[in-house]
Amino acid sequence: MKVSAKAPGNIAFLKFWGKKDPSINIPENGSLSVCLDGIYSTTTVEFSKDYSEDEIIIDGDKKDRELDRIIKFLDRIRNLAGIKEKAKVVSNNNFPKSSGLASSASGFAALALASSKAAGLNLSEKELSILARHGSGSATRSIPDGFVEWLQGEDDQSSYAYSLFPPNHWNLSVVITIVNKNQKEITSTQGHARVHTSPFYQLRIQQMPEKIERMKQYIKERDIQKFGQLLEEECLNFTSISLTTTPYMLYLEPVTIRIMKYCLKLREEGLTSYYTLDAGPQPVIYCLGKDAPTIAKRIQNLEGVEKTIICKPTHGARLVNTHLF
Ligand code: PMV
Repeated sequence: MKVSAKAPGNIAFLKFWGKKDPSINIPENGSLSVCLDGIYSTTTVEFSKDYSEDEIIIDGDKKDRELDRIIKFLDRIRNLAGIKEKAKVVSNNNFPKSSGLASSASGFAALALASSKAAGLNLSEKELSILARHGSGSATRSIPDGFVEWLQGEDDQSSYAYSLFPPNHWNLSVVITIVNKNQKEITSTQGHARVHTSPFYQLRIQQMPEKIERMKQYIKERDIQKFGQLLEEECLNFTSISLTTTPYMLYLEPVTIRIMKYCLKLREEGLTSYYTLDAGPQPVIYCLGKDAPTIAKRIQNLEGVEKTIICKPTHGARLVNTHLF
């Protein structure tokens, strides 16, 4: 039976950077994010005796660098469901993958939902969030709706994400700015493994629980100024860790910094515009919905900007009726 699912990307406010147990993706800290409607993966899965081996096609390409990770994930599903059939998986992203834009989050969330259903499993939201985490840590946050907290946990069953607020809780928008479509040189898996070499890492981990509580409060109160200030502090903290590992990880491009500074200029003009980054050069600007079209238009005109995508908070992974093969 073919099953298809669609899952949103999510960009974290407070980020997952470092693993306590890399074998099952237990993070060093909890994190907060929101599911975004403008960046998503759609995936169709079928297990069948007709397939002699797993066939995986991502964005029309059979040679994705994540193939081994996906086959390992399918093995986990087969194990859980007690089946032996190989699978065909076709997945499409509507945005450039592996460029620091959460493609593994939407990709593994869609795969978790589609493949578990296709294998005959009927998992709860919590079970799906745990399952998605095995594919990619951030995928755990693309299962629940809207504004999401990933509880760090200490073992497989206690590390999962849940919805803090539904998508319509706050009229927040995001302007994703694509400045470089190339795949990043240092993957987030390599990044997670390296963060412990930064002399500042332990301090980051110590401060995180207090920041999580504060950020949840700002989201609850819909306080864009306080939210934005903490968002930017976290972006720079996260970047400082990346810059001080051995060897260091320089994700920023000159255009990235130009846009970060441009956000400050837009704020002086009275627009709400606060930046963050993931493990890549693409700036992501959080703002109130009313300001998003103006901000996107202004950023689009800057040199080095290839594309902007305006997103709104949305629900988590869902089944869909249209199959990709
Ligand atoms: O899910 P992963 O292993 O690709 O890690 C993603 C890590 C960051 O995107 C850098 C931060 C985050 O919280 O999403």
